[in-house]
Order: sequence, then structure tokens, then C-alpha cells
Amino acid sequence: MLRVNDVVLYTAEAYGNSETVGVVDGYTVFVPHLIVGEVARVRVNYVKKNVAYAAPIEILHPSESRISPPCPNFGKCGGCALAHLEYGEQLVFKRNKVSNNICKLAKLNADVLPCVPSPLRLGYRNKLSLPVRGRRGAVKLGLFERNSHKIVTADHCVLAGDWADTLISLFTEYCNRCGVEPYDERTFRGGVRHLVARYIDGQLLATIVSNGEFKEDLRPFARKLAEHFDRFGLFVNINTAHNNVIMGKTTRHICGIEYIEGEHLGVRYRLRPNSFFQVNDGVKNLIYGKVRDLLDLSDTEVLVDCFSGIGILTNVLASCRYDTYAIEIEPSAVTDAEETAQLNGTPRLVNICGDVTAELPKIIAANAGKRFTVVVDPPRKGLNDVICDALLDAAPDTIVYVSCDSATLARDLARLAVDYDVTYVEPYDMFPQTDQVETIARLTIRRN
Ligand SMILES: C[S@@+](CC[C@H](N)C(=O)[O-])C[C@H]1O[C@@H](n2cnc3c(N)ncnc32)[C@H](O)[C@@H]1O
Repeated sequence: MLRVNDVVLYTAEAYGNSETVGVVDGYTVFVPHLIVGEVARVRVNYVKKNVAYAAPIEILHPSESRISPPCPNFGKCGGCALAHLEYGEQLVFKRNKVSNNICKLAKLNADVLPCVPSPLRLGYRNKLSLPVRGRRGAVKLGLFERNSHKIVTADHCVLAGDWADTLISLFTEYCNRCGVEPYDERTFRGGVRHLVARYIDGQLLATIVSNGEFKEDLRPFARKLAEHFDRFGLFVNINTAHNNVIMGKTTRHICGIEYIEGEHLGVRYRLRPNSFFQVNDGVKNLIYGKVRDLLDLSDTEVLVDCFSGIGILTNVLASCRYDTYAIEIEPSAVTDAEETAQLNGTPRLVNICGDVTAELPKIIAANAGKRFTVVVDPPRKGLNDVICDALLDAAPDTIVYVSCDSATLARDLARLAVDYDVTYVEPYDMFPQTDQVETIARLTIRRN
């Protein structure tokens, strides 16, 4: 019988969702930071029924795929669960994860293609959300430990570029010089909760998330930013909610640029701090191009892009040959999407600010009898029953599903499988070094 603190011999037999899986004394044991085939002494830290979790103490037979993680915080910070794996093995892990969820758990008949690598393996993140903790005069910026709210102090993150190191150091120095009080999530007191930053093509948007109005003078920080960044915008976001949501609804522009401007696949876009944007530019570009290639829009009368963000993909797909609807719930992203449509003179496009659950059935009812094509790119929780029923009702020939969580993707594909075959599944490494993976799936209607 396994007990907490037992030290046992363990062989990593397969990959699970983020850890390895093996069997010890009839228990299924999950252990992080190992590689399939490795044998290790592990310490059990949790047991329930016939399942246990353990942490490695000593690796007795290291795998040839093991590398020295490129970050000193590996194992402490929750960011990089796979940084001990040689990159090719990371891709194997991710394909396996998607295949496990879709083929084994959801029991769907699908051929999962190899995971498409990221052009950059380090320094790829264009966004960081750093919790601000500690105490007045000794402020700490960092990342959370895995499954915890303890901070690992970090003045450097290998997933972002040099821009992030500079920003972390400038903001920490500013907070400590000006006596800024960090947030305490146990008492809900203190001023600054997070520093959220986005950096694309030399343009920085830095947002201080404040527990109420921000009272300190921001001019010294703005002056420092100006010394290091040619194009930056400084914002304060107000978030007094007693929960884990990072940004509140109100964002004030303090100085500098108001949005990032860019161009992709011939679409010029604008991006504000509250809007969602894929974190890895190189992989985002590959995904949008692949979605375009997977869709045959020659017969389409109505195209719907659900969960459309600032609408780059919508604009790539829109045409004067059919009506295009984009549905997005975040008002700032819809502002960006409308400006993006204007900048590009995109024809027959309607941007709707609302919930897909309410808006998709309305669009389908208003266009009854027409031929639809639908793209969905939901957050991690995936689609709900109302959305799946609306899709089955509209019966588009093709649905393309872009997912950041293969477990909810598999669940939703299984719901839609009553009328659809899964005809394409390709994982993309949007998040190298982590155990997260993006996936494109295409569903094709069964017409008999
Ligand atoms: C994974 S992002 C995809 C955005 C976009 N397709 C892209 O590639 O940048 C999901 C988007 O859905 C939006 N969203 C979340 N829940 C929503 C809902 N119920 N209805 C409409 N949009 C929603 C989020 O604000 C976010 O912009």
C-alpha cells in the first residue's frame, strides 16, 4: 500500500496530460519532470484510492532526450513543465497528448498529425502577466508556482525576450523607489496586483493592474520606459474583484501609444491592452494560414467566425462573395476588430459584440436555408451545449475548430460527431517548453 512520503522505484511508462504515468504496487502514479523510459526514485506526495502523485528525487536511468533546462527556475515556476525535454521529444509529448484526448478518451477515429514546431523555442512570448507581491520597499515580480499562488521571483523569463527583463527591472525599481504597495491576496489590500505587458515589433503596451485608482505619480516610470523603449504605451487597469481574473473592465491610458499596430497575411490590425491576442506570433501566423487553406469557401453564403478576438483571421477569410459575421464578447477587442475592418476596407463584414451562445443561434435563424461555414476558437472551456446544438442545426459542410485545450476539444468533437467526421487534426506548438498545445481540427459533415 502506498502512503504519503514513501520513496519508491518508478518507471515512466507513458505521458499523461502534463506528467508521466507509471504503475507502482497497483497504483497509477503521476510524476512530473520525467521522460518516458526513465527510471527514478520518487517521493509520494498524494494518494487517493488507487492513484498517487509523486515527485522525482533521483533519476537512476536518464533518457537521451533529457537536457539541462534553460532556466534556473525550472521545477519551481509553473511556466515550463517540459524544459527538461529535448525539443523533438516535446513535440512527441504534445502530439501524444492530443491523440490521447481525441482518440483514446473521446474514442474518435482521427489521424493526429505530428505537432508543428514553433519557429522560436525561447523568447517567443509577446505577452507576460506578472503578479506583484512582497511588501512596500521590497516588491517582488514573478510567476506563480505550478497550481499555487506562491510567487517565484523572476527578473528574467526565457519564454519572453530581453524586453521583458528590462521591463521587470524598471517596474520593480520604480515600485521600490516610490513606495508602491503590492497587493495581498489574503486580505485583498494593497495597490498593485499585476503588471501585464505585450511587446510586438518594437511596440510595448505596459498595463499596471491596480486594486482601485492608482495613487502614485507615474511620471518617473514613464520617463524610464522612454529611455528604454522607442514606442510604448502606459496604462492603468482597475481591478478590485476578489478573484483570480487578472484584468478588470476599466483601463485608463496614461501616456504613449494607445495600441499596437501590425500587419499579417495582408491584414493591417490594431491591438489594445484588454484584447486577446495569440502569444506566439510565428505560430499564430502558421495557424491562420492553415485555417484559410483548410476551408473551401467557394459555395459559402454565410461565414461565421466565433470567438473572433481582434479579427485578423476574420479579415483574412472575409470576401465580397459572402456575408461574414464575427462574434466576440470583449468590447475592447471588438473596437480593435472594427478599426481593423475599416483599415482594410473589408467587405460584407459585421462585427458583433456579444456572447456566442446568444448570437450564433440568432445569425443561424436570420440566415435559415443558406450554406454556412463556421470557425470556432473558444477559450479553454470550449463550447457549450447551446453552441454545439446551433452548429448541428446550421449544418455547415465544414467547421474548423482552433483549440487551446485538447481535452475540451475532444469532448466537443465527440458531441458534434453525431453528424460530422473529424477529417483533420494538427497540433501546433504555440507554447514551447510548456505542456500546453494548440490544435486545429476540421469537421466535415456526413451527408447520407
Ligand atoms: C482563444 S481566443 C481567440 C481569439 C481569436 N480567434 C484569435 O485568434 O486571436 C478566444 C476569444 O473569445 C472571446 N470570448 C470568450 N468567451 C466568449 C463568448 N462567450 N462569446 C464570445 N466571445 C468570447 C475572448 O474574449 C477571446 O477574444
